[in-house]
Amino acid sequence: MLVAGNWKMNTDVSEGRALADAIAEGLSSSPPDLGDVDVLVCPPYVHLPAVLDALAEVPVTVGAQDMHAEGEGAYTGDVSAPMLASIGCDAVILGHSERREYYDETDADVNAKAKQAQAHGLVPIVCVGETLEERQAGEADTVVQDQVDGALSGVSVDSGDALIVAYEPIWAIGTGESAAPAQAQEMHAVIRDDLTERYGANVADDIPLLYGGSMKPHNAYGLLSQPDIDGGLIGSASLAADSFLGIAEKAVEVQEESGS
Ligand code: PGA
Repeated sequence: MLVAGNWKMNTDVSEGRALADAIAEGLSSSPPDLGDVDVLVCPPYVHLPAVLDALAEVPVTVGAQDMHAEGEGAYTGDVSAPMLASIGCDAVILGHSERREYYDETDADVNAKAKQAQAHGLVPIVCVGETLEERQAGEADTVVQDQVDGALSGVSVDSGDALIVAYEPIWAIGTGESAAPAQAQEMHAVIRDDLTERYGANVADDIPLLYGGSMKPHNAYGLLSQPDIDGGLIGSASLAADSFLGIAEKAVEVQEESGS
């Protein structure tokens, strides 16, 4: 189970440091004992050194929210995979719907970035998800399958820790209305099937499939207890240590109940 926070473009560096300190404090001074639940935070680039420092003594890994598809070069304003790897990042969110919408990122872009991330030891968190119109038109499965296929074409994955996929229905992001657990599970099963065809069941079963879109402490249990939901990608609820760790506690509960 993986609980991942996407801070998006929120907090200045001292606020971000304070948030990371509060997460570290919450994990070191009191339960939850995280057991097998992994925790990851993805702050803005400029926060990364401070957040890595704040979380150095607790079992929380740190990732970025995007990166360039090239390793270096004349790309003013961009950040590369080797840069992120060099400061200790473990993962990178790719193809978030906000990047697709505001920066016209395509599946081909996500694909190139995923390969580049892996080449530098970063685990790509590939985001997919349909719009409300696409869902209402009965196209959600096809849209998501096409995104998965486009993003992962030629991406080799030998074990479940080389890739993370996040299903984030666009209509649920930042709206306060998450997908219903059964609805999310249905799409996760579609994605799992796709990954099974691509990588075989042994690998596909171990690839974390995160749900994202208004996950909060009050709805996390229902979502995380679905068989193909292996964690959450959390936006606004990751901006306060108590709600973020509240979701991590739900993940621990689900994990303990499943006996794994
Ligand atoms: P949200 O964002 O939890 O605020 O809906 C999720 C995301 O966009 O990753």
